[in-house]
Amino acid sequence: MSRVLVTGGAGYIGSITTALLLDQGFEVTVLDDCSTGHRDSVPAQARFIEGTILDGEIVRRALEGCDSVIHFAAKSLVGESVEKPDLYRNNNINGSQILFDEMDGAGVTRIVVSSSAATYGDTHEQPILETLKAKPGNPYGETKLAVDNLLTDLAAEENFAAISLRYFNVAGSLKTPTRWLREEHDPETHLIPNLLKATKDSPLKIFGTDWDTPDGTCIRDYVHVHDLADAHIRALNQLIAGRHEIINIGSGTGYSVREVIDTASKVVGYEIPSVNVDRRDGDPAILIASIEKARSTLGWSPMRDLSAMISDTFESKK
Ligand code: UFG
Repeated sequence: MSRVLVTGGAGYIGSITTALLLDQGFEVTVLDDCSTGHRDSVPAQARFIEGTILDGEIVRRALEGCDSVIHFAAKSLVGESVEKPDLYRNNNINGSQILFDEMDGAGVTRIVVSSSAATYGDTHEQPILETLKAKPGNPYGETKLAVDNLLTDLAAEENFAAISLRYFNVAGSLKTPTRWLREEHDPETHLIPNLLKATKDSPLKIFGTDWDTPDGTCIRDYVHVHDLADAHIRALNQLIAGRHEIINIGSGTGYSVREVIDTASKVVGYEIPSVNVDRRDGDPAILIASIEKARSTLGWSPMRDLSAMISDTFESKK
């Protein structure tokens, strides 16, 4: 039986991936410092260690009995990274380096890592291919690119088998037999959970209506967290020693902020209240994934659409 270490397994994407791994017969150890994750999101069948990837000794303990790693633990908000770049560099780059050193020491060389579309930066080349030269436009994207580069070196020098999944915008929830697993950030900055909270007194703020897009609002590519978790498990089964692959995970379709609001209004059956405000620092105008490599390398394609992402998030909050 294969045991996987899931760093950040108490977080949104990590806990949902853990639930699916357990469903598919993997054993799982979760390492999470619960700074943004929630202990009660970790399924009971997983071994849980509370601690940070910045602590080599704890990482060493967490790796015991594991033969592969899925690495989620990271700070992941674009806006916050602009305000606190050092926090992001320390957590994301130094933390990953400590994890990789401990893996190397323990002889665990198989890893799937969460990377991000934020590595690509603002570009007119849409949809974005993995071969596009990465030029991150914010500290968060810089840290994710730095981690991807560390893995390219580890594959070449230490024979690591690595896949970085570059997520576009993740949304949706998963209903397990015991509870809903969903986004629970505090403060919440993401579009879909925020628009579901919007009221007349506290409308959704639309960040910028003067972008170079057809309706002036930013365009993003939304992927369901269940599909994304599935992509991690497929990646785990496709690792090749000495190789580091970078693979986009999105839907291949872009929606503007206004289009997301319109879709959500239809799903929930009332008009989502919104107000136009200034642009948010660090936002690129458009991010749309090419997902051809995910299809051909992982045999993966998205199964759940934007309406499903909104409706199950809506259901999960009832
Ligand atoms: N937005 C609003 N109002 C809000 C929240 C968001 O207008 O209250 C807009 C943003 O300006 C952006 C879009 O909605 O144009 C999506 O914003 P999110 O905050 O939901 O997501 P981001 O695109 O900023 O970032 C997410 C992840 C990153 C990842 C990126 C990749 O948080 O980790 O997707 O596409 F890098």
